[in-house]
Amino acid sequence: MHTPQALTRLDDALLDHPRRSLFLRLVAAWLVLTSLCAFAAWRFGISQVDAQLADRVRQETVRYAALFSAYAAAPDTSRKARLDAELARLTSDGFRIIRLYDADGNPAATMQSPGASGYEAALAREAPARPDRHTEIWRRISLFGQPHMLMVGPIHDPNGALVGYGSAIYRFDRGTIESLEGLVRMVSLMTAATVLASFAMVYPLVAFLNRRLLRSARELMSSNIGTLKTLGSAIAKRDGDTALHNYRVTIYAVRLAETLQLDRKLIQRLIIGSFLHDIGKIATPDTVLLKEGGHDEAEKRIMRQHVGHGVDIVKQYPWLASGVDVVAGHHERYDGSGYPLGLKGDAIPLIARIFAVADVFDALASTRPYKRPYPYDKIIDMLTGELANQFDPTILRAFVPISGELHAACAGLDEARADALLNEIVARYFPGARPDRRERTINAAAGPHRQSA
Ligand SMILES: [Fe+2]
Repeated sequence: MHTPQALTRLDDALLDHPRRSLFLRLVAAWLVLTSLCAFAAWRFGISQVDAQLADRVRQETVRYAALFSAYAAAPDTSRKARLDAELARLTSDGFRIIRLYDADGNPAATMQSPGASGYEAALAREAPARPDRHTEIWRRISLFGQPHMLMVGPIHDPNGALVGYGSAIYRFDRGTIESLEGLVRMVSLMTAATVLASFAMVYPLVAFLNRRLLRSARELMSSNIGTLKTLGSAIAKRDGDTALHNYRVTIYAVRLAETLQLDRKLIQRLIIGSFLHDIGKIATPDTVLLKEGGHDEAEKRIMRQHVGHGVDIVKQYPWLASGVDVVAGHHERYDGSGYPLGLKGDAIPLIARIFAVADVFDALASTRPYKRPYPYDKIIDMLTGELANQFDPTILRAFVPISGELHAACAGLDEARADALLNEIVARYFPGARPDRRERTINAAAGPHRQSA
C-alpha cells in the first residue's frame, strides 16, 4: 500500500521514463555489485594463494628446524655439518637467503643461494634486525620483478622450547604463481558472470512488478489530482459560477514561479496550494460569504477565519498538506498589513508571496459582484503603485514583464480550455498524473488545446 507521502516522493525520472530509468538503475546496481563480488572473490582467492604458498614453504623448513634445534641444544661438529648441508640444500632450491639467530636474537649464521645477490640488503630492509618472541611474518613480497615470500619467526625444539629464530626469503617459481593467480582470475570472472546471470533472470520479474507499481502510482496520483481539482472547484462555486479563478491563479502562479526558476518540488506545492487556497471558505456561513455589498467588522473577522479553516482542512491529508504554505499565507502582505498573522517580508513563505501576486492580479482583472474588471494598464499601475508594498518587490518585478502575455492568454478563457491548460501544467509537474499514451492520442485527435501561458 503506497501512502500519499510515498507517492509524492516517487522519483520523477522513474515516472517520466520508467523502462529506461529502471534499466539504467539495474545496470548501475549490477556494475556495483559485480565489482564488489569480483573484488571480494579476488581478495579471498589471493589470500588463499598466499596461505598455500606459505604452507608449502613451511613444510620445507620442518627438517631444517629440527636440525637447528638439535644443534642449538648440543653444538658439535657433526650437527653443524648436517645443519650446513640442509641449509645448502634449501638455498640451492627455493630459498635465496636464510639467517639464523640464537635464542637471545643474536645473529648465528647466514646462508645465501649461490649466485644470488641483493638478498642480504632485501632481508635487512624487510625483516626486523632482531627477531623476538612476538614477531612472526609470512608475507609475499616482490623482489627483482619476481614473487618471493618473506619469513620471520621463532624456531622450537620438538618439546616446544625456543631454540632460536630464523628469517629467510624464498623465491617462487613464476609459473606456479601465474597458474594460481589465473585460477583466482577465473573465479572472479565466474562470480561476475553469476551476478549478471542472476540479474538477467530477475529483470523480467522486476520490470513486471515495476509496471504494476507505476500503474498503481499513476492511478493514485490521478485520484489525488482529481480530489484537488474537485475540492478547489467545489469551494470556488460557493461564491462564484465557475472554478475559473482557481484555474487562472494557478496558471499565473506557476508561470511566475517558472520565471523565478523555482525548484520543481516547490512548484508542485504551489500548484496544490493555488487550487486549495480558499478551501476554508467552506466553513464560512452563506450569510457572510454571499452577502452583497461590504462587510462590517464582525463579518470581516468571520471572512478572515477561512484561512485557519483551510489550514485545518488540508493538514488532515499529507498530500494536500504540502500546499499549506499557500493556504496559510495567501492573505499575508509583504509590508506586514495582511492576516491572519501579519507576517512581514521573507517570514512569509516564498510560494505564498508568489501566489499573492497572482491572486490580486486576477482579482483586479476579474468581474466581481461589486466591480467590473480593470483594464490591464490600470492593473499594472495599481500593482506597482498603491498596492506595491503588499508584494515582494523581487517577485513583482519578475511578474510585470510576463503579466501582459498572461492577461491576453487568460482573457475570455472558458472553463474547458482553462482545464486543458491546467492539465498540461499538472502533467508537467506531476508526471504520475500524465495520461497514458492511449489517452494522449485521443486528446490529440480531439483538437489542439495548447496555448502558451
Ligand atoms: Fe482567501
